[in-house]
Amino acid sequence: MNGLEADSSPQLLPVNAFDIVVFGAAGDLALRKLIPALFHRWRDGQIPENSKIVGTSRAQMSDDEFRQLALNSFRKFHPAEKVDDNEWASFSGHIFYAGLDATSADANWAPLRERLDDDTSKQRVFYLALPPGIYGSVCQNLDKAGLKSDGARIVLEKPIGKNLETAHEVNEAVGAVFEEHSIFRIDHYLGKETVQNLIVLRFMNSLLEPVWNANVIDHVQITVAESIGAGGRASYYDTAGALRDMVQNHLMQLLCLVAMEPPLDLEADTIRDEKIKVLRALRPITAENIRHATVRGQYEEGALQGEAVPSYASELGNSSSIETFVALKANIDNWRWKGTPFYLRTGKRMRERRSEIIIQFKNVAHTLAAPEGDQLQPTRLVIRLQPDEGMRLMLVTKDPGPGGMRLRYVPLNLSYADAFSARYPDAYERLLMAVVRGNLGLFMRRDEVEAAWKWVDSILDAWSGDSTPIHKYAAGTDGPAQAAMMLDRDNREWFDGLPT
Ligand code: BG6
Repeated sequence: MNGLEADSSPQLLPVNAFDIVVFGAAGDLALRKLIPALFHRWRDGQIPENSKIVGTSRAQMSDDEFRQLALNSFRKFHPAEKVDDNEWASFSGHIFYAGLDATSADANWAPLRERLDDDTSKQRVFYLALPPGIYGSVCQNLDKAGLKSDGARIVLEKPIGKNLETAHEVNEAVGAVFEEHSIFRIDHYLGKETVQNLIVLRFMNSLLEPVWNANVIDHVQITVAESIGAGGRASYYDTAGALRDMVQNHLMQLLCLVAMEPPLDLEADTIRDEKIKVLRALRPITAENIRHATVRGQYEEGALQGEAVPSYASELGNSSSIETFVALKANIDNWRWKGTPFYLRTGKRMRERRSEIIIQFKNVAHTLAAPEGDQLQPTRLVIRLQPDEGMRLMLVTKDPGPGGMRLRYVPLNLSYADAFSARYPDAYERLLMAVVRGNLGLFMRRDEVEAAWKWVDSILDAWSGDSTPIHKYAAGTDGPAQAAMMLDRDNREWFDGLPT
């Protein structure tokens, strides 16, 4: 099974019947993402007749009460989608519920066991939508309860730990029960349509690979901006911050896909072997360069689309020194990227929701003509991950018509909405089906997670000894001015699109 999936294509790949047990089934992730994702796969005919979705959490509820909870949540989180009661009734025939405290050694596992199929050849999946600190005990307990069938798979949500040490502990504890090839560590960015496309774009177009290196590329920018704040998740978020919550996983995975060497094939481990080489080549950010290579920020009150929004501190209920914005300058010390920095940036309560990768090519060697009063713009490839998925190759062209050599900077534009009519399944739809099929290519291997933490830990250590105060930025902006200054020191600037 290769690392690319075709779930959204008209020819859906078949899956065999499976049982999936969702721990933490009454929680936000399960109700907002997992059950709706399974519903969509069912609607597309991808959940075989005999499959079961068994929710479990500490709350006691009947199967019917859980089905109703799942339906109410679906309607709340997906208000634009029409689901009638009959349709839901057919789907929810697959749904069951067993209340139990899976962390307790004397929990009663019988109700869960009864709901699962005895057929040991049926694929069994355990999805831990739980805090990582209890992954180990849940794995041990479900094993002791005799629920781990041959070939059972376990799915772990991020964050795996909060630093290298705790990630290692989690991996050891889970690894004591499940073998690595049965462990599916989710980074939901790997399930996004446009993220999957990065491999296709880079390695299936002969134009790009020859120029994809430090000889031709000046630098790379990866921006994942969110307009939402920490809101109801502030108490979790305050233990993490933007570096742990977004960079250690999502942004570093994007960086790997942009920077890795061509894999020999699309097998899961071939791709993961290439990604880990990138992580190992990342130059550590330490106390010596922390001030030049990182910027931390936190949002204050501001306005988004004309609406006043509160500060992070007031959402949290007290002041905090956790970062809701981070910008980094990463260097990859290998042959391909020597001298070409990767600037990463992510934040909450930014001006707009926008995830983009910008490949900025070097300036032309000799300028024949420049726009009046302006510099000649470099060629840029803008890969828009979300929303408005697409790609733009920004080129300098001659403004048509008389009047001399007037230059215009215009995009060669591929908009997914215009070019393709497909519905893009949510990342979790693809990831859940990939678990059932055993496609590990869309998941993080243990060494990847630990290598990413090693790099992030060094930044966290350097921050803890750095007296620079956290920079405040108004909600609804592009983050603190210091992030622009970081690039300015290198004579570069963030590319936020052409002024409109
Ligand atoms: C999650 C983070 O992993 O990704 C959240 O914990 C963040 O803080 C979310 O909001 C962003 O995901 P997406 O798919 O909306 O870009």
